[in-house]
Amino acid sequence: MVDTQSLPLPVARTVADARAQVAAWRAQGLRVGLVPTMGALHDGHLSLVHRSLAATDRTVVSLFVNPTQFAPHEDFAVYPRDEATDAGLLAAAGAHLLYAPEAAEMYPAGEQTRVSVPELGALLEGEFRPHFFTGVATVVTKLFCQVMPDWAIFGEKDYQQLQVIKRFVTDLSIPVTVEGGPTVREADGLAMSSRNAYLTPAERAAAPALYRTLTAVAERARGGEALAELEAWAKGELAGAGFGTIDYVTLRHAETLQPLADLSAGPARLLAAAWMGKARLIDNIAV
Ligand code: PAF
Repeated sequence: MVDTQSLPLPVARTVADARAQVAAWRAQGLRVGLVPTMGALHDGHLSLVHRSLAATDRTVVSLFVNPTQFAPHEDFAVYPRDEATDAGLLAAAGAHLLYAPEAAEMYPAGEQTRVSVPELGALLEGEFRPHFFTGVATVVTKLFCQVMPDWAIFGEKDYQQLQVIKRFVTDLSIPVTVEGGPTVREADGLAMSSRNAYLTPAERAAAPALYRTLTAVAERARGGEALAELEAWAKGELAGAGFGTIDYVTLRHAETLQPLADLSAGPARLLAAAWMGKARLIDNIAV
């Protein structure tokens, strides 16, 4: 049964309850949007909720910290979790249902099935987090099968994730329209992320250099400067600003994410990932 009492918006904990609610809405001719999240909600998530509310009739927000997209050495155990606060934010935003299944509902005993997008998922983030996109593709496929939304939205901050999701939705003919929502930034340009909570005050003050550097590279690339030199310059800038390991700063084709020789070769996206203290920050911009 959907819980309408203890939290400020109805909560479904099982596939059956989520489906029953969505089926009831669909029977009334309503279009259903899904905003998948891992909780620790910030204004970036809420902007996706607002876009769903504008694009559809009913908005389901899922909250599930997905174990299969974390490697054993990553931050699954300490990932911020506060369902009551998240539920309050979603109720205030006007969401209609929180779908917050237990791990056993998502990964039932004996489960073994995975969804992978081998080429797109092996690039960039995939090189540094080889488990990541199979975990994401698997859980998002499950969410689509469980909630059966007409429409779903994912933040462009995780740009490669968005491309991977669009790829498998097309490849598997999943009847969901997938949209990307623009990255929401703090006043100083830092992309909002649940993992920004890991930054110390000094690291937080230094972190906007990531967006500043991407913006400068994009401008200079448009001005015709050589991409290889710009990428090297960007790594120097980030190191100088206090970033530790810089996993990549790279200009790619906006859909295939293959390296671009120059800007005339197609729509371009500049993407970066770098460590600031314990936080691995990622960001990207259109060029
Ligand atoms: O972007 C996220 O928060 C997660 O990767 C997602 C899409 C909810 C899947 O767990």
